Amino acid sequence: MGSFSGLSRMLMAVMGSALLAVPVASASFKNLQVLPKNVSKAALIAQMNMQVVALGKDCTHCHDPKDPAAETPMKEKAREMMRMVSDIGAKYPATMNRVTCWSCHRGKNVPDKPPGQ
Ligand code: HEC
Ligand code: HEC
Repeated sequence: MGSFSGLSRMLMAVMGSALLAVPVASASFKNLQVLPKNVSKAALIAQMNMQVVALGKDCTHCHDPKDPAAETPMKEKAREMMRMVSDIGAKYPATMNRVTCWSCHRGKNVPDKPPGQ
């Protein structure tokens, strides 16, 4: 887990963005159920890149590459996780809004089990 693997993940995120560059360029997003409907393009892409890095997977792990608005089972799982993270921040102030996807995922789509399990 040196800086090289971190850099590869960032590059994957950039390549993923290029893959979906055309649909993302459209004026407004069509199928947001968790993020605010009027989220800026920059904020949405920052959220997506954060998820790519946290899960160690590219955009197509969750999206149909032809249409990022299309429903997929993986998007529905990610939405549930987004709601959980937002609930944790709201209900448990001692976490200082620092519980994120990375807190559990650490660059893997399925988080590690504790040692010995
Ligand atoms: C871990 C799953 C996951 C990954 C990886 C991911 N996304 Fe998403 N994406 C989502 C979810 C979930 C939504 C819907 C959010 C909502 O309902 O508010 C979404 C929504 C979007 C939308 C809005 C589509 C619309 O019109 O409704 C775009 C564009 C998008 N993602 C682009 C990307 C790009 C580009 C990448 C790679 C850099 C990426 N996503 C990686 C889960 C993911
Ligand atoms: C409190 C810990 C925790 C946090 C925080 C968390 N997750 Fe998860 N997530 C899990 C666990 C545990 C699983 C695996 C469930 C299983 O065994 O299949 C999982 C699975 C997933 C999956 C399914 C992956 C796959 O390939 O099957 C997605 C997508 C996902 N999480 C997205 C997210 C996103 C996006 C965030 C941040 C918004 C997030 N998670 C935050 C614990 C967490």
